[in-house]
Amino acid sequence: MRSIQIAIDGPASSGKSTVAKIIAKNLGYTYLDTGAMYRCATYLALKNKLTKDQVPSLLEELETHPISFSKGDDGSQRVFLGGDDVTLAIRQNDVTNNVSWVSALPEVREELVAQQQRIAATGGIVMDGRDIGTVVLPDADLKIFLIASVEERALRRFKENQEKGIPSDLETLKEEIAARDFKDSNRKVSPLRAADDAITFDTTGVSIDGVVAFISEKANEILDK
Ligand code: DC
Repeated sequence: MRSIQIAIDGPASSGKSTVAKIIAKNLGYTYLDTGAMYRCATYLALKNKLTKDQVPSLLEELETHPISFSKGDDGSQRVFLGGDDVTLAIRQNDVTNNVSWVSALPEVREELVAQQQRIAATGGIVMDGRDIGTVVLPDADLKIFLIASVEERALRRFKENQEKGIPSDLETLKEEIAARDFKDSNRKVSPLRAADDAITFDTTGVSIDGVVAFISEKANEILDK
């Protein structure tokens, strides 16, 4: 059976990664969390106290500490920078609050997009991010753009943080999500926006199973053609 490319874009905490992981598993495809890659670049920038004026040093850090993914003992995805497991570190507040400026750097985007395209070339893929349908995989067979209200997304992130033991406050999360939406949507390079041929789906009040069912149906329609 032929394999397809599925691009899932949308703002922070719109449920992209949760559903993308499930769909990839069901289809036996690779799942690529591109947000984790921008978080890795941000982690390296903070660790090395680099500013936006030191892009060559950041690119060098990315080269000497390649980003890779593997499965942990419990089946969950682990993120590595060189030999270091940074799965939890890249979800901490300092990384979250700095990822917008790092992901707005054109040279960083160029490098990470090239890596993403190389991974996609290996076979069936479900990729989630902000610019997958518009820039990374413009020819993806299925493009989904997930949205949800700021309130619902803040609540989702609050619960996620609680599970991971990351301290957070709901009101602050709402402000941070709204601020990140604004920055992601208004940056010059590859802003967050739905591709013209993407299907927009509002997940407010919809269960994870409901979103998975919707996307799976669309994927099956393409695969059955
Ligand atoms: O999906 P996330 O919240 O983990 O993503 C973290 C940040 O990375 C997000 O605020 C914007 C950036 N990002 C991006 O610019 N392009 C992508 N394809 C994925 C994420």
